[in-house]
Amino acid sequence: MRPMHHIISTREYSKEMFDEILEMAEKLEPIARGEQHSTILDGKILALLFFEPSTRTRMSFETAMYRLGGKVLNMGSVEASSIAKGESLSDTIRVTSQYADAIVLRHPREGAALMASEYSSSPVINGGDGAGHHPTQTLLDLYTIKRESRLENLNIALAGDLKYGRTVHSLCYALSRYNAQITLVSPPELKLPDRIVDDLKKRNIHIHETESLEDVIENIDVLYMTRIQKERFPDPAEFNRISYKMRLTKDLIQKGKPSLRIMHPLPRVNEISPEIDDTPHAGYFKQAFYGVPVRMAILCKVMGVQI
Ligand code: CP
Repeated sequence: MRPMHHIISTREYSKEMFDEILEMAEKLEPIARGEQHSTILDGKILALLFFEPSTRTRMSFETAMYRLGGKVLNMGSVEASSIAKGESLSDTIRVTSQYADAIVLRHPREGAALMASEYSSSPVINGGDGAGHHPTQTLLDLYTIKRESRLENLNIALAGDLKYGRTVHSLCYALSRYNAQITLVSPPELKLPDRIVDDLKKRNIHIHETESLEDVIENIDVLYMTRIQKERFPDPAEFNRISYKMRLTKDLIQKGKPSLRIMHPLPRVNEISPEIDDTPHAGYFKQAFYGVPVRMAILCKVMGVQI
């Protein structure tokens, strides 16, 4: 197995690279569930540097390390670290990369993970950089689609905040490797950035755009909902004007195929009605669990550990 160095974006990943991680995750799933014991990451340390809130990314990486016998070094809140004294991100990375075998970085600035990788002596894993990318979320999204639907020739709709939602930016590039038909569903103000649409068209991907979930619900295999990213709006009034526009209800999904799966990177706010949670269509809580085996696979890959 060739070790991977930094994980910054899925844009350049080949299908073989995605498939390798997904196959590793499948082998690791019994350990992620606590059904088998493993110490393959004994002696390894993962540093978590989170400059933005997180529940799933931070805790599933921690779970992945503990389940594989490794240890976690958590910087904790920005206020409790020397960042509060004015230390730069580059200095923080230079130092923490000497303490840990890999670093997971979440940061509000697009490009922060790439910049960090230039100063780090250990692999940097992008845990989300502003409205940029979230590659480990994409890997767990692919794994969820593989487990709950099918990856090849998928008909998928990506809905909600496609402008600021970094998970969809990364996911689009990955889906392009599996010949997916992609429908983008968003208000005009929150469309997928042109540079990504252009990139996808160059890869000969079928893309349609609409503003209405009603238009797509009957034909798709997977509906990937996203939260409107309130924290990234320069003007709060603009958020208030748009925020109510997209909501998935049980009535609406009843028009879909029986096999329709609803995904969401979470956290959700109002965009999926809780009455959907107990239907067979809801895939988003399983998706959050799949973050554990997938992040185990990623950790083994960047730390050069054979499974
Ligand atoms: N999906 C995701 O990135 O969730 P968190 O913000 O809770 O990490």
